[in-house]
Amino acid sequence: MQQFYQKNDYYKVEGRKQTLKEEQLCSLLSSMSLKEKIGQLIQLSGDFFSTANLSIGPIKKLGISPEFVKLAGSTLNVVGFENIKRVQDKQMEVQPHHIPMLFMSDVIYGYKTIFPIPLGFSSSWNPDLVEKAFECAADEASASGVQVAFAPMIDVVRDARWGRVLESLGEDPFLTSIFAKSMVEGLQKNLPCKKGLVACFKHFAAYGAVEGGREYNSVDLSLSNLFQNYLPPYKAAVESGAKMAMTSLTTLNGVPSTADKWLLTDILRKKWGFNGVIISDYASIQEIIKHGFAEDNEDAAFKSLSAGVDIDMKSPVYASGLEKLITNRKLDIKKVDSAVFRVLRLKNDLGLFENPYFGASTTREKTSLLTPQKRELSRSLAEESMVLLKNENNALPLNNKEKMVLIGPYADNHALNGMWAIHSSKKDTISIHQGIKRFVADIPTEKGTDLRRDSKFLENLGFLSEQEIKNMVSSEEENRNNLMKAIKISQKADTIILALGEETYEAGEAGSKTKLELPKNQIHLIDELSKLRKKIILIIIAGRPLALENIIDKVDAILYCWFPGSEGGNAIANILFGFKNPSGRLTMSYPRVSAQEPLYYNHLSTGRPQNSSKGRFVSKYIDSPADPLYPFGYGLSYGFVNYTELKTDKYVFTKDSTINVTVKLKNNSDFDTTEVVQLYIHDKVAEVVQPVQRLIDFKKVKLKRGQELTIHFNISSSQLTFFDNRGNEKLEPGVFDIICGTNGKQLLTTTIRLK
Ligand code: GLC
Repeated sequence: MQQFYQKNDYYKVEGRKQTLKEEQLCSLLSSMSLKEKIGQLIQLSGDFFSTANLSIGPIKKLGISPEFVKLAGSTLNVVGFENIKRVQDKQMEVQPHHIPMLFMSDVIYGYKTIFPIPLGFSSSWNPDLVEKAFECAADEASASGVQVAFAPMIDVVRDARWGRVLESLGEDPFLTSIFAKSMVEGLQKNLPCKKGLVACFKHFAAYGAVEGGREYNSVDLSLSNLFQNYLPPYKAAVESGAKMAMTSLTTLNGVPSTADKWLLTDILRKKWGFNGVIISDYASIQEIIKHGFAEDNEDAAFKSLSAGVDIDMKSPVYASGLEKLITNRKLDIKKVDSAVFRVLRLKNDLGLFENPYFGASTTREKTSLLTPQKRELSRSLAEESMVLLKNENNALPLNNKEKMVLIGPYADNHALNGMWAIHSSKKDTISIHQGIKRFVADIPTEKGTDLRRDSKFLENLGFLSEQEIKNMVSSEEENRNNLMKAIKISQKADTIILALGEETYEAGEAGSKTKLELPKNQIHLIDELSKLRKKIILIIIAGRPLALENIIDKVDAILYCWFPGSEGGNAIANILFGFKNPSGRLTMSYPRVSAQEPLYYNHLSTGRPQNSSKGRFVSKYIDSPADPLYPFGYGLSYGFVNYTELKTDKYVFTKDSTINVTVKLKNNSDFDTTEVVQLYIHDKVAEVVQPVQRLIDFKKVKLKRGQELTIHFNISSSQLTFFDNRGNEKLEPGVFDIICGTNGKQLLTTTIRLK
């Protein structure tokens, strides 16, 4: 517990050349009134400071007094140097101690230069490149006045029905943890030169496990499942030095995360040693009343602050509840002081007391955004993120001698950034048509159909205006004409490039869906075009895994492109024409049909494994295969890499020794290629049964055509631990399968025994 010094020095911010010392911060704290202290714990959106409210979330009057608006210590999604300067100057002027505000924003996968969505870039299995992307995003956003990113989102997700799978790194905790580190470091590495951003990892904890994949729904997990499959990425973010954490909107085992003392204080602060700032999610402190965990604002304020939440984002609870609690001695002022001190220390760490605009300036803003280098980085990451799911008879890569047409609602569509690219503009995004034109100058193009034909569905997305919906849905006659025009130009072609997928707001926050299949009108277009017996290359733009079983036999190739970001069209074209060899590997299991969700590779065996017998009485469905259409780790490339000779240097090992694993790769193709070599284990017997496969390491390697490579891994016993039902980490002697192979399907296995 910090010692609060009693000196009452008064601090003006002008002209200060160095950050304040701890005792100076303490002295500042002790000179603040209770209202001022509470003000530091309040975060409001731009509309409270007469600027745009770019936030995503329920819009409602908060009833916060003008006095507390003046004392608010931070704001969200106010951006642009001129804008933040005006807001900062005004707020500091009215603050009794002229304390600078913190400017926080959703910079989830880019600011102006947009990268592929996280579920997309996780398929690159390239944490180094992702770190560079987040460094780039921080450079852009800090130039525009942002100081804190509400990122990385590192919720593990096993259910593709949940819209926010878009922002996740998929279903594996180990891979998500690797990316958590790269994103935190990418954001924060340039903080010292004010070109970085504070990383605020989210949503603590286990938001991705919402029941039924339904947004904001309850989360109920055994402690072994929570600790083994959902908590590791947040721990990785803490270990990587993240300076902030955001709570989840949901309950975990009946307790709202935003008021869960066990989660926020016992685990996050005490067990993991996190000493940064904890912020609620949007209005989540007030929502603990709706959850049925608090009676009123005062009760909610008491419970959230006591649990360890420092900042109340966009709710009136701390503003209306804390003062009474302190004056009525229901809450120890020391708890408020600790929270305020953490906020002041963060501001001081950023040097805001000497420069309240941090790294922002008109010059930086003019020279940092959407530079060619940043676009190049976005294009590279997009190319490495795309996953080739099917390539019948080497339909790809295309050569520009083929007579081609480009069909589909995504052919000329610039909306390739996904829902959370809230600071970007689609006019800065390269469409698929623009990308392809670099290889085929005048490719005939037709929309064929709309993205969606159901106005009610589009209205229900809660984002599109009546006029926008009118513009998006053609009349029946127009739709028939669109189809006829598409068929007409396709009849003269050898190859149809067909660009389909999800509308931007179908995925992302509050985008949970029960039907993962493509919409009927898009399927109808596929059906009609497939009757022409032409080669069909299907490009999918989406924010989640879709259920494709009903269309895979009607197309020759499928390239899954996610929402690929600013350079999407160029990246797609580079892959289609073989300029880049696709190397993406799925980080989520793909269902055949929606009803298979939740679906994930690291599942338990059961007592009657689905492939253990042909009979009825095994773990299966009677109306569909139970395995995924495409498994975790799956992806094709041009050419094929053969895996042989998976070996270990010893069979028996002790907890202090390591096992050296080797596997041989041979590129049997005419293409230079890149392979993601994945290493899994299966702990065959344990006091809490273990998944049939668990990723423990991977290597992304390049192989020239014809090249052979031996890949080495080291396994230590620390990679073989599991969590029991009290959340304790355990290591048990016994036999482990070591599993390795390409695209999550052709797998080699050997065994080792821990003594
Ligand atoms: C939203 C999201 C969170 C986001 C925050 C601020 O509701 O849950 O991820 O950072 O509010 O926009």
